Formats: sequence, C-alpha cells, structure tokens
Amino acid sequence: MITIDGTSFRLDTDCTTYLISQTKYGHLEHIYYGNLLGKEDGVDVLAQKRSIMVGSSVLYNSEDDIYSLDAMCLEWSDNGRGDYRHSPTEFKMPDGSFVTDFIYESHEVLAGTVAMETMPAAYGGDQTLLIVLKDKAYPIFIDLYYTVFEQTNVISRRAVVRNEGNVPITIRRIMSISMDLPDECFQMYTLDGGWIKEASLHKRPVSYGVTVNSSTTGASSNRHNPAFLLAEADANEDYGSVYAFNMIYSGNHYSIVEKSERDYVRVCMGINPHLFEWILSPEEKFETPECVMSYSSHGFNGTSHNMHDFINEHIVRGDYKKKERPILINNWEAHFFDFNEGKLLRLAKDAKKLGIELFVLDDGWFGDRNHDKAGLGDYRVNPKKLPDGMKAFADKIRDIGLDFGLWFEPEMVNEDSELYRSHPEYAIKLPNRHSVLGRNQLVLDLCKKEVRDYIVEQVSSILDEAKVSYVKWDMNRHIAETFSEALKNQGEFYHRYILGLYEVLNRIFEPRPHILLESCSSGGNRFDLGMLCYSPQIWVSDDTDPIERLKIQTGLSYFYPQSTMGAHVSQAPHQQTLRETSLATRFHVACFGCLGYELDIKYLSPEQKKDIAEQVAFYKQYRKIFQYGRFYRIKSYKSNKVIWETVSEDKETALTGFFQTLATAAESSDKLKVIGLKKGMFTLRTRPQKLYIQRFGGLIKHVAPVELNPDGVIMRAVNRHYSLRDCVETYTCSSEALAAGIPLCEQFIGTGYHESVRMLGDFGSNMYIIEAEDTFL
Ligand code: GLA
Repeated sequence: MITIDGTSFRLDTDCTTYLISQTKYGHLEHIYYGNLLGKEDGVDVLAQKRSIMVGSSVLYNSEDDIYSLDAMCLEWSDNGRGDYRHSPTEFKMPDGSFVTDFIYESHEVLAGTVAMETMPAAYGGDQTLLIVLKDKAYPIFIDLYYTVFEQTNVISRRAVVRNEGNVPITIRRIMSISMDLPDECFQMYTLDGGWIKEASLHKRPVSYGVTVNSSTTGASSNRHNPAFLLAEADANEDYGSVYAFNMIYSGNHYSIVEKSERDYVRVCMGINPHLFEWILSPEEKFETPECVMSYSSHGFNGTSHNMHDFINEHIVRGDYKKKERPILINNWEAHFFDFNEGKLLRLAKDAKKLGIELFVLDDGWFGDRNHDKAGLGDYRVNPKKLPDGMKAFADKIRDIGLDFGLWFEPEMVNEDSELYRSHPEYAIKLPNRHSVLGRNQLVLDLCKKEVRDYIVEQVSSILDEAKVSYVKWDMNRHIAETFSEALKNQGEFYHRYILGLYEVLNRIFEPRPHILLESCSSGGNRFDLGMLCYSPQIWVSDDTDPIERLKIQTGLSYFYPQSTMGAHVSQAPHQQTLRETSLATRFHVACFGCLGYELDIKYLSPEQKKDIAEQVAFYKQYRKIFQYGRFYRIKSYKSNKVIWETVSEDKETALTGFFQTLATAAESSDKLKVIGLKKGMFTLRTRPQKLYIQRFGGLIKHVAPVELNPDGVIMRAVNRHYSLRDCVETYTCSSEALAAGIPLCEQFIGTGYHESVRMLGDFGSNMYIIEAEDTFL
C-alpha cells in the first residue's frame, strides 16, 4: 500500500516499509527501509537527525549550515551540489557542465504496474508511486517509478529521463536505483565466476570507499551476476537483516556500494556506464531497466523466499508460469556434433522407455555444422544427418511419444558459413581492424533491423514447420567490438543490442506461447531477470558435475527459484572435472531444478537404466515440490555437508537432499533438520537407492560370501545386473522433533556393512521424503 502524508511517501508490503520524504529544498531523502512499521510511525521519528554542522562540508544553502547533501541519506543525488558520493547520474547539460540539481516537482499514485515501452518489466504489481523530479535550471525531468508487490515483499524501482528542452543532452550515466542506508556493519554477497564455475557466492565486508559489481561482456555475464545482498554482519540463513537487489536486464549491469565517512551506505544499480553514452534529443525519453529490492529480518532464506515468489509470480509469464516442466533428454553430451538420424532415434526410444518426456536436439543439426568452426547462422537442416528434413524427424520423435525441442544460437555467425559469405555486413566488426573471435564466431549486429528480421524469419519458419515445443536459445561468446553501422553514436551500442534482442524474442515467442524457451549462454552467462521474462528456465551451467553444481545451484538459490534452473544428470567420470560420482548423487542434485538427462543411454547397464526409470518416476511424483516448493538452505555445522530442502505449499510434504562432499574418517553422527512444516506428526523415510557393488572394489570380500576378483569378469557382469540397497531409515515423529533434528544412522567407517549403515563416502547423498502422517502411503 502506498500512503502519502504531506511531503512523505510510505510504501508498505506485507512485511516491510519503505519511507521517503521531501526535504525543505525539494531533495528526496531516504528515511527508512526495513520491517513493517506501525501505522503511526513517520518521518519525524525515523529520519536521521541533522543538528550539527559537519566540518569540511559544502552547504547547499549558505544560510543553512546543517544542510549538506554529503551528510544526508538521500534517495537520489546530483553532481556539483556538495554530495561527493557516487551520483546516479552523469549528464552533460545544455551549458556543457555536469552539474544538475533535481528536485521534487510532482507525484502520482497509479494503480497496478506501469508497463515499460522498451524493455521487459515485472507485472501484476499492486500500486505504483511516480515521483517527478525536475532540474532547477533546465527542463530536464527524471520520473522515478516505485512499484509495490505486497505479498512478495518486493519493491521495484526505475527511472525515466525526459528532455523537454530544445537542445540535446548527453547521458553518460543513469542508474535505476540510488538509496542510502545507515550502515549495519554490512557484508556484501555477490555471485561471481566464469564458464563452468558460475554463481559462486562471495562475501566481503562493506568498507569505506566504493565496491563495484558489474559486467562488461555485453551480457549480464557469468563473471558477476547482477543480483547481490547486503546483510548485517551476523546474518545467517534464518536470522538477521538482509537486503536483496536484482535487475531486470540482460546486458552490462553496474552496481556500487559506497560507504561514506558518515557511515551511510549508498547503493546504486543500473546500466553499466562503461562505454555508454546516450544522446537524448528534445522530446525524447530514456528508460532505465527496472530493479527490484527486498528486505527480510529472517536471514538469507527470508529474502530468497521473497525473490523466489516474486519471480514465479511477477517475472515468469505465459503458458509455463507455475506449470510443471517436462523431463528432457538432451543429445549434446551424448553425441556432440557426431550423430545421424539413427543415433538420435535410438536415444529417443531409450529415453522414452525410462519415462522421459521431451527430446532436445542440440547443436550440429544444420548447415556444415560438424564442428564449432563452421555453419553457425545457416539454419537449414543438414541432409546427411537428417535426410527427410526437420519436420519428418520431429514427427518421428513425436511418434515415439516424446515432445520435440531444438537448439539455436541465433545471435551468432561463423565466418565459414553461407550467411557470412552472403551477408558479411550482418556481423559486428570494425572496417579498419581485424575481428576478435570467441568460439570461432562473430556476433550478429542486433542493432540492425535487417539482422533482427533475418533472425525472426529463420527461427520462426523452422519452429512452425517442425511444430517445435521447446527451444534452447544459446549465446556462446562475449561481445568485444562495440560498433554498428546502424548507429550514429557508438555509445548506444550495448544497450541497443539488448533492446534488439528483446524485440527479437518478443516477435518470435509472443505469437507462439506453447513453446517452452530455455535460455543458455555457454551455461549461465545470461542468468538474469530480463531473460526470465521470456524464458521460464535457464541452463544453469555447462558444468553438470553434481559437486560443482552444489555450489552453483546454492549460489543461484539466493535469488532464483528452482523452477528457473535447468539441471541435468550427465555421465561419470564427469567430462570437465573427471570426478566420479554416483548416479544417485547426480540425480539428487538435478532434482532441485528442472530435471533433464544428458548422456548416451545405450552405454548404461541394465541396472543403471532401471535406476534412472525409478528416478524419473520419483521426480514425476514430487515434481511440483521440486520445482515450486519453498526452498531452504539448511545450516550444517559440518563443512563437508550441503543440505537442501523443499516444502510443499500445504507444508505437509518436504524433500531433503543431504549431500556429503569429501568424506572424513570415522565421521561423527549426522542430524537431519526439517523446517517449514505445519504442526503435526510426520513420517520421514529415505528414498531407496542402489548401491552398485563395483563401488566396493577390493572391499567386496566384506559383502560377498565367496571370494571374487574385484576387477574380474564376474564382478563386472554382476555389477551390470545386480546392486545392493543402500540404508533406508524410517521414523515417525512431530514437526517439532524434525525441526530440532533427527540423528541419522551412522556412516560406514570400515567396521562392516549392513543395512543400517549409510554408505556415503566422497560425494555421497541421500534424499529424504517427509510426509504428514495421514498422507503417507
Ligand atoms: C553451449 C551450451 C551447451 C551446448 C553447446 C553446443 O556450450 O552451453 O549446452 O548447447 O553450446 O554447442
């Protein structure tokens, strides 16, 4: 709810209050952001008190020696008026200076959300506050939009600059958010990484000066995700004050956190000013991307829950919103570029037998794409691989009983391609310099209308012809040369590219709402809220090693729900880490996302196939809870454990993945804590999992009644057809006992194997199913 009281603006969500006020000179002061205030609480009490003159300050008004902008908690700020902190704007004004003074002009409270003209935005908000600021000297306006999403405890912010004068201005920086918070000994948490090691959570203290979280690759990037947290020093998963920020944008982003000498912490977030320069002519306006923020005093799980609900309710849209996503088989890691129709149909038939629902044909089906040096851009079917064409192949897949999905990388081109030979001008390159390549490819110039039209036409015709129901949209290199013949001002390049991308996605997918889009960018190079407005799920990482995925999916879970994460079971040893992990652990990790398989089923043993069929059936039974349940990161005092839990909406069922990274000798007992359930009696049981006897190696003598060569023919044959059951535990107890933690059976420590010993070892895991007593079957 938005309440205006004189010169103060109060935005309430179900559990939070955000309070702003206008000062006597018309600047916007940030008063408060935190837990919901009492109805009577207002600015007088909650504002920072200003009663002394601070030495070394520049006064806004020489008559008023306690009004220095530098010493205030502001909601917006300028250059050249005495505030020396990072300003949300840098405009070259009509007088050639960079000095601005934006003060309150008017406000309005609008129903619902105000749609954006150029970019995707959140939808379904409750109310929007518009505060209009005007520069004191020129008719330049900044419209600040605040939308409240009450139930999800999220407030979004964005800015629109309008030039109502008669000369152009140059925008060198325009943020979507600026806000000052009194320091709480904040720690900043960011998701950083690179290819196959995306989204690792890093923590650093917010100290004096500026900390930047940004990307410059042309995408939101795998280096630094736009999302970040500010948390009080003692905050943990369940307790403490946490602010979460994210941005609905897929291009270069930029956030700063700056602690001033007055111990105020400024947060700015917006488009990266790096190589950015926008000429705003008279009568024109410039929209900044929408940023979202949330607060919780219930620790990191608190802000995660807000952000998860917000994404599922207000970002993801279309036919797949809150819809259970199909279990897929992707042929990439099974075949790479080396396949023919026979191989593909065999994989599809094998997948169908295991209960899989969707077949995804990845890279290599078009042009001369037999390796990654050629063919990109030529989306006509390779007749050597699919002799009867795409429609006939897709029909064969559907005849097998699977839906059909297809991979594209529409924003790129190989120099060795028909597209490049006939239209070299479609690629981004400078006339007087050699091109720099990434994965042997150039980026297509999405600033050009003819390029956007080409992509829309090419992709759409195949989608319609083959009745494709799923698309994997890839983007496999960073942008380097920011130059387009379509632009007069190259400082607009990066942003215009993203606007071009959004236009293309709109034109292709809006008329085809039945298609499930999964965005990908060498894995998680574009895991952001902008892409999620089009693509309900995103390929998390090319790294499917479950132990690496524990870090990656944990990192993403701070901001993004399980329904957004494409997660696959692939082969072991893993193709990037050489790590050997059990099929059970690979499945247990992938379960906490949109499940897929990415391996060649024909090489699996009969026992492994049975195992996968059981996994698929189990996932289908609990799919809704895995994809949409309330997700908790459960604290463990042991550093070699990762524990994830997801709880059904009615709080009657929970699923817990209990993962051990490196085993320790004589491991002490483990506890299983289950939280978030309704009050009552529950039964907890272990998901039965297979224990492959090959795992025992020379230790087989402890298990087998006769002597066997651990590497002999008999052992290998038996391993293909026979396995042992891993320890299964069952307990009945109250939700209170579960929240306190149930001691589990002990782990194997070399003193014998029997059915009450948990056989985890390195990279072992168990899945626990916790169900309210009356629903337990
Ligand atoms: C990228 C993707 C992979 C796969 C390959 C195909 O690396 O992340 O999943 O689609 O491209 O070339």
